[in-house]
Formats: sequence, C-alpha cells, structure tokens
Amino acid sequence: TVQRARAAIADLTRSVAGFPAPGVVFKDLSPVLADAAGFAAVVEALSEGFDVDAVAGIDARGFLLGGAIAHRLGVGVIAVRKTGKLPPPVWSCTYDMEYGTATLEIPADALDLRGRRILIVDDVLATGGTMAAAARLLARAGAEVVAVAAVMELDGLDGRGEVERALATPVPIRVLVTG
Ligand code: PRP
Ligand code: MG
Repeated sequence: TVQRARAAIADLTRSVAGFPAPGVVFKDLSPVLADAAGFAAVVEALSEGFDVDAVAGIDARGFLLGGAIAHRLGVGVIAVRKTGKLPPPVWSCTYDMEYGTATLEIPADALDLRGRRILIVDDVLATGGTMAAAARLLARAGAEVVAVAAVMELDGLDGRGEVERALATPVPIRVLVTG
C-alpha cells in the first residue's frame, strides 16, 4: 500500500516554483487526491494500524484526507479551521508558516474532546507550524494527540522537531514521502 501511495505521489504531485511567495516551491497534491487509485492508496497508507477515537483534519486538504481516513478507521472527524469561520467561543492558535503567519481554530464548546485520542492529518508538513498549532489546540481542548500524519514532509525545515516540541509526549509522525 505504501509503495502504491508513493508511486502515485511521485507520478502526480505538481511542483510550482515561486508560489505563494518567491523562493517557495509549492507542492500541490491535488492531482494525487483527484486520482481514484492515488487517493485510495494514500488514505489506506495514512490509516493503517492507527487506533484512535477521532481524526482531526487541517484546513483545507487535511479535510479531504481526514474525512476519508476517519471513515476508514470507523471514527468521527474534526475540522481544524482557518480563522474567521467558526462562531465563538473558539480555541485559537496563531503560528508562523514557511511564508507569513496564520491562525487555526476549533470550537471551544461544541465538541467534548476531553480524553479523546486523536490522529491529526494534513497534506504537507513543512515548517511544522500548522501541525504544531493544531496539536496545541487539541491539547488545550483536553484531547490526547496520539499520532500525526501527512502525505509529504519537506526536507530541511525540521517540521518534525516543531511538532515534537508542541506535544507533551513523543507520538508517531507518519509521512509517506519526503521532498
Ligand atoms: C500548507 C499545507 C500545510 C501547511 C504546511 O497549507 O497544506 O497545511 O502549509 O506548512 P507548515 O508546516 O510550514 O505549517 P496552507 O496554509 O498554505 O494553506 P491551505 O492548506 O489552505 O492550502
Ligand atoms: Mg494546509
């Protein structure tokens, strides 16, 4: 499965130099997710063996992956959203990205996440700021982040280190390819 996922990622990922800022190479996994075999392989590879109570998907492509992974694992899905989309009260976390800053939010009252074992999913792990912010939000809501997963990890940015620093205890960080 992981081999099939890696083949699809290698074949279908689109690299766009200079987007969204000069010097940044944007890795667009949309064609992988749009391909039936590619999507199935990626979802399976990112799901395999995880035992969790819920999956949290990060805005926006993490939603696509997170929903499918949650369904496969037989659990519910939580949307970790970009700022301004949720009514108050929210838990909010602002972080630095490869380019600029951003804010993620989850509802502070609508979901009871206390003690829930969560897998966080996104498409790309770059500086790790996004994934770390999601981990901090879920921890603040009382959840236990037990694993994180992404399709691709970008080399040389220590995204992994950033995620590890955001979590009280080390958890598995699963990525399918680095690039
Ligand atoms: C991209 C990507 C990850 C994040 C990784 O999302 O989808 O979520 O950057 O970067 P980091 O590890 O340095 O935080 P982006 O915020 O560009 O927006 P999008 O997901 O809405 O396209
Ligand atoms: Mg993103």
